[in-house]
Parts: sequence; structure tokens; C-alpha cells
Amino acid sequence: MAKEKKEGKSRRELITIGSAFGLMGLAAAGTGGAIFKYMFPVVSYGTPQKFLIPVDDLPDVGDELVFDDMKVVVRRHSEEKVAAISLVCTHLGCTVNVVETGFQCPCHGSQYDSDGLVVGGPAPKTLPWLEVKVVPGGQIEIDTGTSLPENTFFEVA
Ligand code: FES
Repeated sequence: MAKEKKEGKSRRELITIGSAFGLMGLAAAGTGGAIFKYMFPVVSYGTPQKFLIPVDDLPDVGDELVFDDMKVVVRRHSEEKVAAISLVCTHLGCTVNVVETGFQCPCHGSQYDSDGLVVGGPAPKTLPWLEVKVVPGGQIEIDTGTSLPENTFFEVA
């Protein structure tokens, strides 16, 4: 009796082909996962939008204090009222310097008065005044992500 030759693929061939496709699938999944992982950074860039300062560190009445790292000046109008003004130039974002007449940008020469209103140079608008909040623990929180009209003071006492 003669053996009949089977039509199609043998079991061994099917297992080999299946294994090859399985390995290719695993490689594709691994590569895709690695690419997907690098699409989302695990670090944040830039400075945080909010920062805290102890109420005890506020400037004296009529004085102001520059927080260089946060590019903010805090001004104390009275015992109870303070304001925070951004030191980020509204032209192209350089940090302005506090000068006797107000603020001056070292990059392209924009000048602002003591309330941050533009008095010269290419700056298109007033320096933003920022939100100030009293938070528990004897601290105030300054939000550099807000932009309020000039002369916006907040109660801190
Ligand atoms: S960035 Fe300040 S004047 Fe250009």
C-alpha cells in the first residue's frame, strides 16, 4: 500500500511559520513600546507656575523684593496689601531689571514704569500682575500663570 502524500503544509511547517510570526509580533510590540515610551517625556520643563513664600519674608511696607529664580517682584503696598509683578518682558520674554524709574529690559530696551506700563521700546503690553493667595502655614502663594490688570493688590493679613 502506497503512502499518500498529504496536500498542504505539514505540522512541522505550520509550527515553524507560527513561531516566526510570533517572534515578529513580539519584536514589533517591543519596538512599538519603546518608541511609545519616548514619545512622552518623564520630566517637566520650565519653572513651576506657583511658588510659596513665608508671610514673614514679605518686604516692609512701601518696599519690594525681587525673587530672581521666579522672575517676580513682590511689592508691599500696606500692612495688609501686597502685589506681585512678573519680570518677564512682554516683548520676547527676557527678564527685566528693576530700575529707579520702574523696569528695563536688557535685551531690546523696553522700558516700563513702576506699575509695569510700557513707556518705551518694542514691548507690546504691560508687565503682568500676578495672583497672590494666603495659604495655610503662614505662607503666600504666587501664581505666575495668571495675568491680572495693574494695581491688583491682595489682602495678606
Ligand atoms: S525681550 Fe524685552 S525688549 Fe525685547
